[in-house]
Amino acid sequence: MSLNRKEFLWASALAAGAVPMTGSAGLFRSNRQNMCGFAAPPIDKVRVGIIGLGMRGAGAVQRLSKIRDVEIVALCDLLEEKVVRGQKLLVNAGRNPAKVFSGTEEAWKGLVALDLDLVYIVTPWRLHVPMAVHAMKNGKHTAVEVPASVTIEESWELVETSEKTGKHCMMLENCCYDFFELQTFNMVRQGVFGELTHAEGAYIHNLCTLITNERGQGSYQGQWRLSQNIGRNGNLYPTHGLGPVSQCLDINRGNKYDHLVSMSSQEAAFSEWARGNNKKYAGIENYRGDMNTTLIKCAKGQTIMIQHDVSSPRPYSRIHMLQGTKGIARKYPEQRIALANHHHGHTWLNSAEMKAVAAKYEHPLSRTIGTIAKKVGGHGGMDFIMDYRLIYCLKNGLPLDQDVYDAAAWSSIVPLSIESVAQKGWTVEIPDFTRGAWKTNTPLGIVDVDPTKLPLLNAKNIGYQTHGVT
Ligand SMILES: NC(=O)c1ccc[n+]([C@@H]2O[C@H](COP(=O)([O-])OP(=O)(O)OC[C@H]3O[C@@H](n4cnc5c(N)ncnc54)[C@H](O)[C@@H]3O)[C@@H](O)[C@H]2O)c1
Repeated sequence: MSLNRKEFLWASALAAGAVPMTGSAGLFRSNRQNMCGFAAPPIDKVRVGIIGLGMRGAGAVQRLSKIRDVEIVALCDLLEEKVVRGQKLLVNAGRNPAKVFSGTEEAWKGLVALDLDLVYIVTPWRLHVPMAVHAMKNGKHTAVEVPASVTIEESWELVETSEKTGKHCMMLENCCYDFFELQTFNMVRQGVFGELTHAEGAYIHNLCTLITNERGQGSYQGQWRLSQNIGRNGNLYPTHGLGPVSQCLDINRGNKYDHLVSMSSQEAAFSEWARGNNKKYAGIENYRGDMNTTLIKCAKGQTIMIQHDVSSPRPYSRIHMLQGTKGIARKYPEQRIALANHHHGHTWLNSAEMKAVAAKYEHPLSRTIGTIAKKVGGHGGMDFIMDYRLIYCLKNGLPLDQDVYDAAAWSSIVPLSIESVAQKGWTVEIPDFTRGAWKTNTPLGIVDVDPTKLPLLNAKNIGYQTHGVT
């Protein structure tokens, strides 16, 4: 992809170290860039290619097509019918049809070869890294679904490619943009909870039916997710719980994960469900334990407990618990906060007090675009806040909120928990993907957007209104 003059001047200034960057950014070596705080040249119209148009990818097409300065140039899926559906969604949203790619395992390489700014990857886990690495090497920024990588080698590959190419690699951890998560992040930054000592997160979501569906709308293509659960005994999906609390704990930016221990319960719930609902899977062998509990120790002393259970009959939970010296917040099963200056933290705030706290500490991002995000949808709005903020940063040449080190570290809990479980819960060291830069990288701040700089396509029709920007 050729650089226009503005991009060229920016790139030259970056190479000469003339552009100040947030974070400790700067050059590690002449051919390696610290991607924490890294700002790429502004992109006026963000040309996007989306790979993977299944259950999640179809939503991405709809959300991104709401943003005027996004041009969805290309769509790709292994299956032609998914591309046809994606194209329909695009055209129904009032957009030009995209170039389409399908039919072979490697058709996506045709998409990557186009003149694009961002490759948005929504495929099964095993394809995330090959696709993202190829895209970055071909001059594209990348956004990758969760978890970004499934092995430690893959995490390093992402980091090294992003550093060498100077291309963003953001994992699409949407839960960092959910409303209570944003509010509690803001409260952490304002010091409301004092010094954080412990956090908890989880992915507890009964997926037995979805994971065994063989075909049709509500099924994983080729049952890819079922096969991931066989022979891999650990936390297979840690980042929804881990991402939001890791931002609060400044992981990779002043703090880091140091080591972990992990244990899994026996497998029982999936088999029991199968015996009663789908006998084909009743005798499944080598299925991971129902509940995985992983305990991470951070360099600055805090502990993080992360759980994974997608088999047991129980309500959805990501826990999202933050404990500090002055208070506690917990999201599931219902939002609760207790503060030391209120009955010494012995009682939870009542609903009127919770409302007052929510009003006082609402994160600027949700204050600015939360209303429209709820209308657009995607897990209650958080998906749109994430996409909007991503495009906003690319358009305005700002660092992204989640960088490649976050993608690598948050995802690394998958293979490391598997390793610890296999060794009877032994301690496993967690690699420092920043190679020491965590000590000086600047923590994520309270970010916002200015909606006048990134209008929606048809603001009136979706009730778009701007709020004050702080
Ligand atoms: N962040 C979230 O809240 C969230 C929610 C759901 C899923 N996800 C993630 O999104 C990703 C996709 O999950 P899903 O639920 O949409 O699964 P899915 O099976 O519905 O979709 C995956 C799509 O990828 C396509 N695909 C497979 N191989 C391909 C190839 N070689 N080239 C092009 N396309 C290919 C499939 O045909 C399918 O349409 C996963 O990484 C998952 O973890 C994230």
